[in-house]
Parts: sequence; C-alpha cells; structure tokens
Amino acid sequence: MSGSNLSTEQLAESDGAELAPAADASPSILSAHGIGKTVRTGDSDLTILDGIDIEIKRGAALAIVGASGSGKTTLLGILAGLDLPSRGTVTLAGSTLTDLDEEQRALVRGREVGFVFQNFQLLASLSALENVMLPAELRGDSDARAQAESLLARVGLAERTSHYPRQLSGGEQQRVAIARAFASQPSILFADEPTGNLDTKTGSTVIDLLFELNAEFGTTLILVTHDMRLAERCSQQLVLDSGRRVS
Ligand SMILES: Nc1ncnc2c1ncn2[C@@H]1O[C@H](COP(=O)(O)OP(=O)(O)OP(=O)(O)O)[C@@H](O)[C@H]1O
Ligand SMILES: [Mg+2]
Repeated sequence: MSGSNLSTEQLAESDGAELAPAADASPSILSAHGIGKTVRTGDSDLTILDGIDIEIKRGAALAIVGASGSGKTTLLGILAGLDLPSRGTVTLAGSTLTDLDEEQRALVRGREVGFVFQNFQLLASLSALENVMLPAELRGDSDARAQAESLLARVGLAERTSHYPRQLSGGEQQRVAIARAFASQPSILFADEPTGNLDTKTGSTVIDLLFELNAEFGTTLILVTHDMRLAERCSQQLVLDSGRRVS
C-alpha cells in the first residue's frame, strides 16, 4: 500500500500490553475447533453452527461460501472475536478468544483485525475521508489524511472524499468500508461479501485490491462471498450447509 509506513509488526506492538504477548510460534494465524452456536428463539433452541473446524495459515486466503442463512456471517463474527460461540475454541494470532472477556477481545481485534461488514457500518456524521482516516488517527499516525486519500483513490473514490455516507451509493459506501479496513493495516482481514453490491468492473478492482494487500503485507483474508471469481482466487474454501461444514 503506497503512502503507508507502519508495518503490522509495529502495529502489533502498539497496544494490548496487558494481554499475553502474541507468542505465536505456530504457522496458523487462526484455528477454530468444534465451533457451535445455538440461540434461543421463542421456546426452542436453534442451532446455527455445528462442529466447525478451521485451520488457516498466516498469509492464506479463505473463502466461506454457502446458501443464504447457512451461517456465514455468524461464523465470521465468531472467528473475528465479535461474537462468542456456544461451544468450541477460537485462537487468533496466539490469543484464545474464547477464553477472553469482551474488553480483552477488543484489544486483540484492535491489534490484529480489519472488518468489512455486510452493512458497511460507516459513521454517518463523518465524511468518506474522515471514516477512512479514523483507524490511523486513533493510532496517532501523523499521515492519516494522506494515507486515507491514497486508499480512497485506490478504490476509485478520489472525487468523493468529502461526501457523507448518505450521499454515496451502496457500492461507493462498500468501497469506503474496504478502504477503512485497509487503513488499520490488519494482519487478518474479515470481509462479509465485499463485492456483493458492486458491478463486475468495480468488483474486479476490489478483488485485485484485496489480493494486492494479501501479497504486499501478507494480510490473511477471510472472505464470505457468493462471487465465484473471488472464491476461486482464495487458497482455501469452506462450504457451509445449514451450519455444518460440508467441504
Ligand atoms: N441472534 C440470532 N437469533 C436467532 N437466529 C439467528 C440469529 N443470528 C442469526 N440467526 C439465524 O441463523 C441463520 C444464519 O444466519 P447468518 O446471518 O449467519 O446467515 P448467512 O449465511 O450469513 O446468510 P446471508 O447469505 O443471507 O447473509 C439464519 O437462519 C438466521 O436467521
Ligand atoms: Mg450474511
């Protein structure tokens, strides 16, 4: 990524001091064992995920695919430490997320994780540029603005930096969310249907960008997608069917 000068290692050192250091001797950046999620709906239990195992090496790319309602978003949230499973363990960059409380998981996320949500989650009161600048500003980077401008240009939004989310199309908001996720220079990027709202050409640009990040920074990618072009470029695929891993 041009214009950025912090390595993920430097970022990793920047906070989370009270957590055990990520003494991460294993080549896996993410491992999940026996993941299950059961929720109470009305007076019955609904099992959304059941017995999921995942092992992913640093720098790899995993596509999570499956029909609508098969549990992809739920699984992504659990792997990223945003949500806890009902059963099983998740270890991310040496930290066992399932042993940590919300505050500790937030520290690991801040240190390691970028996230592009299915509904973007841009801050409505901030412009596109301010949304993208936020992670670097919070880190205290002096060149947050230049970095954010460069990232917005890379997603094709150089002319839209001062627009607020409500003044942007769905696809443009998605690209702002992707630029923001890149701005935090994560060691692992989770994205929920990153090309879902994009036309073929813009979708291709975003796919190229994700894999450039993967190649330049060794960023691990975990992507939920219905887009076969994207799934085929990933080194691993995980297929969900009604909450179970079928391949
Ligand atoms: N908190 C919850 N309470 C009850 N049911 C839930 C909850 N969260 C998810 N579900 C159900 O779990 C199933 C999986 O949801 P999830 O959002 O993970 O699906 P998905 O594979 O991401 O689907 P899509 O492709 O449509 O985004 C769905 O049937 C959904 O209705
Ligand atoms: Mg989903």
